[in-house]
Amino acid sequence: MPLLEINNLNTRFQTRDGEVSAVNDISFSMEKGETLGIVGESGSGKTQLVLSIMGLLASNGRAEGSARFKDQELIGLPINEINKIRGNHMAMIFQDPMTCLNGYLTIARQMTEVLILHKGMSMADARKRSIEMLDAVHIPAAKTRIDRYPHEFSGGMRQRVMIAMSLLCEPDLLIADEPSTALDVTVQAQIIDVMNELKSDMGMSIILITHDLGVIAGIADNVLVMYAGRICEYAPVNDIYKDPQHPYTRGLLQSVPRLDSDNSSVLHAIPGNPPNMQHLPAGCAYQDRCEFKREICLTERPALRRISDLRQKACHLEAL
Ligand SMILES: Nc1ncnc2c1ncn2[C@@H]1O[C@H](COP(=O)(O)OP(=O)(O)OP(=O)(O)O)[C@@H](O)[C@H]1O
Ligand SMILES: [Mg+2]
Repeated sequence: MPLLEINNLNTRFQTRDGEVSAVNDISFSMEKGETLGIVGESGSGKTQLVLSIMGLLASNGRAEGSARFKDQELIGLPINEINKIRGNHMAMIFQDPMTCLNGYLTIARQMTEVLILHKGMSMADARKRSIEMLDAVHIPAAKTRIDRYPHEFSGGMRQRVMIAMSLLCEPDLLIADEPSTALDVTVQAQIIDVMNELKSDMGMSIILITHDLGVIAGIADNVLVMYAGRICEYAPVNDIYKDPQHPYTRGLLQSVPRLDSDNSSVLHAIPGNPPNMQHLPAGCAYQDRCEFKREICLTERPALRRISDLRQKACHLEAL
């Protein structure tokens, strides 16, 4: 049984200017212990996809379809039920650590509260466990720094604190939404290392969302590439790098900054912009930017299809 199984998930927002289809017919599954990277440009629906799963959509949004987590359906679950799962089995870390850290309370206060509330721990045990978690994410001198306030930490250290906090309840699934974009590349790489360690220590599954295919190279097992709210390619991470089969994946790869090269190398951003989600074109959503465009791409939307045991793509081209 997969840990998470998504089937035909659709998420729409009602706005004054009409309906926005942010997530369109997404299906995938992931196993226990797996790390899935979700990649795509800004606005491709990455965040709304995971918020739909977590029951955290804005009030004008509605998810339909199925998301089964440990064989329990999450879509349509009452708020108190989903809160229980969120507190104990799934955790999410957000792009901005201050979304979940309170600037007015010490780290100790914020961390121990979680354990006392959710796990019924004593204050002394909760403090001990919190320090262990800060150690695990390599916060130096955790024993004393735990009594500091969030603003006394650097950006990278704050990210670590947030990861430590989200792991207190030992979730089966950690969803990390762009946990490193605000940081410089070296710190980014360190944060990914920390997550990699925790993954093997705790046997946790991770969904890692990013703009940047470079970030997930060292951590993901499989990669899901999203464009205009749809999956355009799904494949094991090495196949994505060695043999991208969707023109969009190829475009993203050409715009990956590399840690091992100097910054003077030219990046090729994909020309053009993603389509307006309120007025998606007929046919393939990527048509305006695709160098391989053919007639059929203008009229027929390519269905997601299996191209090998482990790979899927939504493109009319047989091969790239
Ligand atoms: N509350 C809302 N009402 C209307 N539209 C929304 C709402 N929230 C998100 N959207 C739209 O949903 C689409 C997908 O947004 P989403 O936040 O998932 O993008 P993303 O891939 O996470 O982008 P980024 O990389 O910038 O975080 C966007 O077009 C966005 O404008
Ligand atoms: Mg986002």
